[in-house]
Amino acid sequence: MELSEAIAELDALEAAGLAAFREAGSPEAVEAARIEYLGQKQGKIKAAQQRLKQVEPSARKDYGQRFNAVKTALEAAWESAKARVDRPAAASGLDVTLPGTPRPRLGHRHPLTQTADELIDLFGRLGFGVARGPEVEDVFHNFEALNIPPAHPARDPADNFYLSDGALLRSQTSTIQIRVMERQPPPVRIVAIGRVYRPDAVDPTHSFMFHQIEGLMVDRGVTMAHLKSTLRLFAEGYLGTDVKIRFRPSFFPFTEPSVEVDMLWHGGDRWVEMGGAGMVDPDVLRAVGYDPEEVTGFAFGLGVERLCMRKHGIDDIRLFTTNDVRFLSQF
Ligand code: PHE
Repeated sequence: MELSEAIAELDALEAAGLAAFREAGSPEAVEAARIEYLGQKQGKIKAAQQRLKQVEPSARKDYGQRFNAVKTALEAAWESAKARVDRPAAASGLDVTLPGTPRPRLGHRHPLTQTADELIDLFGRLGFGVARGPEVEDVFHNFEALNIPPAHPARDPADNFYLSDGALLRSQTSTIQIRVMERQPPPVRIVAIGRVYRPDAVDPTHSFMFHQIEGLMVDRGVTMAHLKSTLRLFAEGYLGTDVKIRFRPSFFPFTEPSVEVDMLWHGGDRWVEMGGAGMVDPDVLRAVGYDPEEVTGFAFGLGVERLCMRKHGIDDIRLFTTNDVRFLSQF
């Protein structure tokens, strides 16, 4: 047999075999192609190998080389056809045996932000609008307008974060009472939420920075009874009707009379201060141009962290600022 003729047969065998494996669409079809081309007994490769004897001896080396290449190519085609039909997912680029791509974790609002929204919503239903004020305050709004004169111990540099030139990080949101009354005539019914700063020793219920919700209502005929029922309604609305709160006589320079409001802590074994409150001092009303003969008002300032802690059974105020996702992701 002529070498060229034998090589042409090998070329045809290769082309037909490759096409057969390429077109085989199922494991059965691949197996049929394997038997036809690579079968040990009657496969076409086997036959081509036996044809070596018919090639004249001087051309056998060339024939053998081409034969080996065709055999290798068909075996490779068989492997890839098998892989394609056995694991269609892998052929499409999807390997279901690989570890899954973790779903990106959704972020969400900080528990205190959620609490602030809830408080604003609750007071909104009681008819209170929302006001805001700056965190860096002047001594006029933080102290003087609130009846806290220069010699008052509350202005002690050791008890405040002074910046420069009579400016400080506000120590209470009562500053916003003044800013609101300066801006508008009565009636007033607002709440304001924000950060306040005091150089307090940090413990599970104290921090050098926390949030207060301030409330102010000024109108004709506002009394202490309105204050107490508003705070009770609020406490029951936010903490549940089984919450226990109590009022204790207290003193603030800008309210008269004044009270401190406590709530029975989760666990039920101790009272924790929820905030301060009282009837706006007539001097404060006068200083912003209101007539205390015409209108009266109440004000309160409550600790937002403690409200949130009481509601969710949180033991340590520091959890709000340590950014531990095991804590944060529970909200
Ligand atoms: N500003 C007071 C405080 O931070 C709380 C308060 C607010 C008291 C309003 C009376 C009226 O302690």
